[in-house]
Amino acid sequence: MSEAPGQAAASPSTPASAPQRPAPPQVIRREDYCPPAFGIDRVELRFELDEDVSTVHATLALRRAPGAAAAAPLVLDGEGLVLRSVAIDGRTLGPEAYAQDAATLTIAAVPDVFELRTVVEIRPQDNTELTGLYRSSGNYCTQCEAEGFRRITFFLDRPDVMARYRVTLAADRTRYPVLLANGNRVAAGELPGGRHFATWDDPFPKPSYLFALVAGDLRCHAGEFTTASGRRVRLEIWVEPENIDRCEHALRSLQRAMLWDEQRFGREYDLDIYMIVAVSDFNMGAMENKGLNIFNAKYVLARPDTATDDDYEAIEKVIAHEYFHNWTGNRVTCRDWFQLTLKEGLTVFRDHWFSADMGSPAVTRIAEVLALRTAQFAEDSGPMAHPIRPESYVEMNNFYTATVYEKGSEVIGMLRTLLGDAGFRRGMDLYFERHDGQAVTCDDFRAALADANGRDLEQFGRWYSQVGTPVLRARTTHDPATGRFTLRLEQAPPLAAGAGREAAPLLHIPVAMGLLAPDGSSLPLQLVGEAAASPGETRVLELREQAQSFEFVGVQEAPAVSLLRGFSAPVELDYPRSDDELARLMGADPDAFARWDAGQELARRVLLRLCDDAVAGRELVIDERLVTACGRVLADPRLDGSLKALALTLPNERILGQHQTIVAVEGLHRARQFVVRALAEALQGPLRAIYSETAPRGPYAITQPEIDRRRLHNLALGYLAALGDDASVALAVAQFKDADNMSDSQEALACLIEVGGPVREAGLAEFHARWRGDALVLDKWFTLQAVSGHPDTLERVLALAHHPDFTLANPNRTRALLASFGLRNQFHFHDASGRGYQLLADKVCELDPHNPHVAARLVSAFNNWRRFDSGRQAAMHAQLQRIAGLPGLSRSTQEIVARALV
Ligand code: BES
Ligand code: ZN
Repeated sequence: MSEAPGQAAASPSTPASAPQRPAPPQVIRREDYCPPAFGIDRVELRFELDEDVSTVHATLALRRAPGAAAAAPLVLDGEGLVLRSVAIDGRTLGPEAYAQDAATLTIAAVPDVFELRTVVEIRPQDNTELTGLYRSSGNYCTQCEAEGFRRITFFLDRPDVMARYRVTLAADRTRYPVLLANGNRVAAGELPGGRHFATWDDPFPKPSYLFALVAGDLRCHAGEFTTASGRRVRLEIWVEPENIDRCEHALRSLQRAMLWDEQRFGREYDLDIYMIVAVSDFNMGAMENKGLNIFNAKYVLARPDTATDDDYEAIEKVIAHEYFHNWTGNRVTCRDWFQLTLKEGLTVFRDHWFSADMGSPAVTRIAEVLALRTAQFAEDSGPMAHPIRPESYVEMNNFYTATVYEKGSEVIGMLRTLLGDAGFRRGMDLYFERHDGQAVTCDDFRAALADANGRDLEQFGRWYSQVGTPVLRARTTHDPATGRFTLRLEQAPPLAAGAGREAAPLLHIPVAMGLLAPDGSSLPLQLVGEAAASPGETRVLELREQAQSFEFVGVQEAPAVSLLRGFSAPVELDYPRSDDELARLMGADPDAFARWDAGQELARRVLLRLCDDAVAGRELVIDERLVTACGRVLADPRLDGSLKALALTLPNERILGQHQTIVAVEGLHRARQFVVRALAEALQGPLRAIYSETAPRGPYAITQPEIDRRRLHNLALGYLAALGDDASVALAVAQFKDADNMSDSQEALACLIEVGGPVREAGLAEFHARWRGDALVLDKWFTLQAVSGHPDTLERVLALAHHPDFTLANPNRTRALLASFGLRNQFHFHDASGRGYQLLADKVCELDPHNPHVAARLVSAFNNWRRFDSGRQAAMHAQLQRIAGLPGLSRSTQEIVARALV
């Protein structure tokens, strides 16, 4: 039985007079899960790849599932397939024996055990949706997760149907010299007519979403890895010929990830070959297909002159993430798509840990929390709010969200905190031991962790169904006479309206904390009734009730409380404390994350006050405490350059807006611009000194000290350039001219864009002339202009949408301009004229028929429309209605728009 009956065709057009409401969508619910009525043991596929029509021959060994109804028909998923023939056990079926609609093929009467053969035709060259089998730069490739395999052949396209695959590809030898699929290559040879073939066999049973093939003219950068048990694995990075000199970093990243998973989790790779293919047209970042990852080229290709430090780090992370899926996702997979966080939350957690081990744990953690707060907290307080294990969906592709990924990872992180590293490892070992080769649920995962540790994780399980960002309220009292210090913790449901305030069940929340004496030293942490203080300067309190009080003894002077060290739970902290207490934490907290967080809170308060001043038309005056605090950070010899840069980067306008009932678009922008300039003026001396001290001393190197140096160098440049004086602008111009690497070049250009005028035009023209033939670098050119704060950014973006190099056909290019603008540039996207909204909506309408998945992501820029003033609300609402009324709107975009309009 098919789990996800797709929708036949998009809804018919709505009459002009009717309210512009999308038709009720087909909802898939978690509670409706039924095991499949048939299993598939073996799959044999033969692809005849051709310029016009490609043919897919499928042979499936099927058997009725034990316990399934004896008369149940076979219902296969299939979309956009031209059926040529269907046969059971060698007998071709007549048309009366089966029925095909837009989403399924139903065969009424089938034996209990049988072989099904189908032949279908598809047209990969016309596939603009980029799921299923499609073409990119003239090469064939696939993307099957979540439900793309049904666009290739008729199948039980659901993750709990796991089968062994043998795949033969046949294609023209000259145009497609390279033929790849999952597993090991077992045969290859010539065919008549200038064609050739290759056969691949994957010994590991897998769900269809992990199927992949690639055919094209590609070059290979190869390497090797020897596993802990001594098996030699061949590693291959496949790219278009001109990119062969940009693969080494990806290869090294893969080797590091393989070693790390052995050392940290005892997990070895299981095939003799691991291939990664880089393609230019890809909806997502990368895909973990068994033995044959397919990547957005952005997350593979790196050369110092084309990729920034951030790009290098992102590549390492994404390569590791897809590699880690081999165990968390492939060997143990999801029973159904509601369990997505089982593999994605867990694998994000693993790639975070890996990144922390490879670079700086503090910097990694800060970046994660920043991403969580910016994207996930916003999602959790808007119309797309959902639990990390959603209860329902219309289009699964819409649920690859910050919540499932980032909050999902935080939930695993809390388990690690509660169980400790050794306990967590025991739990993971038991999980793999119990479930290797199975399709399982989040509950199975939690049970393995609980059983391995003899712990009750029942209450903890509520994190899987909880919606919205919970509030952690903290209040303290101190009695100097008795030396008692009381910390009262309370949990409250999310602040966001409609998130189910009344019904919120009590969560199990780990709160890592410490106490600081007025001199900044850490205090011993001993609770009343305990014989001694707990070891170390941090302890984890477990909040399980609605409110709990923790009474510490031996606290003579009023301490500063450091709460949520390392951001031990994905909550919003409500703890009113003085600016002085924040300043104390900022300077002395032993936890680097908590230091940074205290600084961000201080800056946020200053910015929000200034925003109020700006809105009220009062004069803006910089708070000296912020200047002093930033000056101290700059001068602190204990902090590396990356940490200084993070500490001195003010909270972005989107995060600030989350702390207002109605986002004050202009006020926030003015306040932030003002503080940047005020800090730059006040700290000019140290900033100039730092800029020259951190100047490059040799050729580019991608080492941690060099990355730290560049980050601080470019942070200083950014502040100085904000002054706009000739000397500072000259620094940016010189850096842009002299840079031997993309980090320094891009940051200099970003500064020139803010400065505006002739230096901006010259810089942009030069960058464009140099990189126009390099799609990934040209994307940066679009993005830098789209995220700029310069007053004429909206005009720019409107013009860039008509630039000859702009195209909606390539997802990276679309995102470089439009997602950057709509999702990252709060001030200009929300221009009071509404022209930003108009542009985005126009492009969504234009893109939706070709690539609904990317269109649905873009349209989510309107999700928080209720958080703005009435004029902006009306303008966004009108655009949403216009999109909703579009004839033939895709299921993907329709779902997002419908939720936004509810
Ligand atoms: N399995 C996903 C890729 C995917 C997502 C395919 C949605 C189809 C639909 C992959 O493992 C993934 O999560 N990729 C991320 C990057 C990762 C480092 C978080 C992506 O593509 O953004
Ligand atoms: Zn993933």
